[in-house]
Parts: sequence; C-alpha cells; structure tokens
Amino acid sequence: MKITSAEFITSALKRSGYPEELLPEVAFAGRSNVGKSSLINTLINRKNLVRTSSSPGRTQTLNFFRINNQINFVDFPGYGFAKVPIKVKAQWKPMVDDYLQYRKTLKLVVLLLDIRRAPGSDDASLIRWFETFAIPFLVVLTKSDKISKSKCSAQQKTIKEFLLLQDEEIVCFSATTGMGKQEIMKRIIQVM
Ligand code: GTP
Ligand code: MG
Repeated sequence: MKITSAEFITSALKRSGYPEELLPEVAFAGRSNVGKSSLINTLINRKNLVRTSSSPGRTQTLNFFRINNQINFVDFPGYGFAKVPIKVKAQWKPMVDDYLQYRKTLKLVVLLLDIRRAPGSDDASLIRWFETFAIPFLVVLTKSDKISKSKCSAQQKTIKEFLLLQDEEIVCFSATTGMGKQEIMKRIIQVM
C-alpha cells in the first residue's frame, strides 16, 4: 500500500467523540514512551504527524488518523507511567476498555513492547483481553536498534514464550532503521 495521504481527524476520551464507524481501524497500544507515535509516523512515512515525545505520558486521549481515506489508525495513550496524574490514570482503563469492546470497525490492535524490557502483568492481561474478545492483535517489539541482532532474536523468543504467542503474532521493529516495517504493513493490509 502506498501512503498518499495521512491526516489527523480527532481526539476523543469517550465513545461520543469517536469518528463515525466508516473505515477499518488499527489501534496502537503500549506503555508510555514505548514508541507508539513513532511507529505510526514510520508506517506513514511522516516525521512528526503524530507527536512524539521524550517525556512519557504525552498522549492522553485516543487520537484518530485517517490514512489514504482507506483506514484509520488510533494512537492510544500509554499505560503504566508513574508520573501521569492520578486523574488521567483513572480515565485510561474505561477509555480503552470501551473502545476495545464496542468499536465495530476495529480490525487489529498492535501492542508495542520495548524489546529491552521483560513484559509485565499489565501487558499479559491486555493480550488475554484481546483473546477473550476475539480481537486480532500483533505484538511489536520496539527500539530493536538499541540491541544487537542476535540479542533481538533471543528476546523475541523469550517474550513470545512468556506471553504464549504464535510465531506470526510477534515482530521486531525499529523506528530508527525501519526494521520490521514491511511485516507490520503486510499484517495491516491483511486485516483491511
Ligand atoms: P506516549 O505517547 O507518551 O505514550 O509515548 P509513545 O509510546 O507514543 O512513544 P514515542 O513514539 O513518543 O517515543 C518515545 C521516545 O522513544 C522518543 O524519544 C522516540 O524518539 C524514542 N523512540 C521511539 N521508537 C524508537 C526506536 O525504534 N528506536 C529508538 N532508538 N528510539 C525510539
Ligand atoms: Mg504517543
């Protein structure tokens, strides 16, 4: 798929703020600072359509982007960052639960994990939730440029086994080198 247009549509905290259910949607979820916004920018070949930040917890609403008038990408706020105000944290779960449960056009959730970290129970429980609701998902291991190739494969195997995933459910990625981009695009095109 050649990306010819990518535009920000809207931010929403609850269902009434979502755009109409017209296009298939792919959501990007993961802990604060894991690289969600950077992954979206890489996929759509933009430097900064989606705001990235070195201070975690910057994205605090569901942000909708329309790609080629064909598909929507949804940038989720990150979870698990201690410095996010309590009020914002309390909003996160109902906001995400609601979206995952009721969004009819949701086709795929891309769950991002930092390749250098051991996944936590919050990551594992999100995956069990996807399975419970039969939501297709792909685990993307971000910042793969920060470790060696061989360490990447070893980490991929460890995380895959810990999260009880199939081979095709997990991929290594780097926003710096573009590693894994084609594989992720392929999966997105499949679900469209
Ligand atoms: P929140 O919106 O706060 O939840 O963060 P996010 O998950 O959207 O992360 P974001 O894309 O803003 O990236 C956080 C930081 O990690 C930024 O400084 C990015 O430049 C950096 N980063 C993201 N992906 C990569 C990557 O693949 N490699 C390297 N080296 N740095 C990355
Ligand atoms: Mg972000």
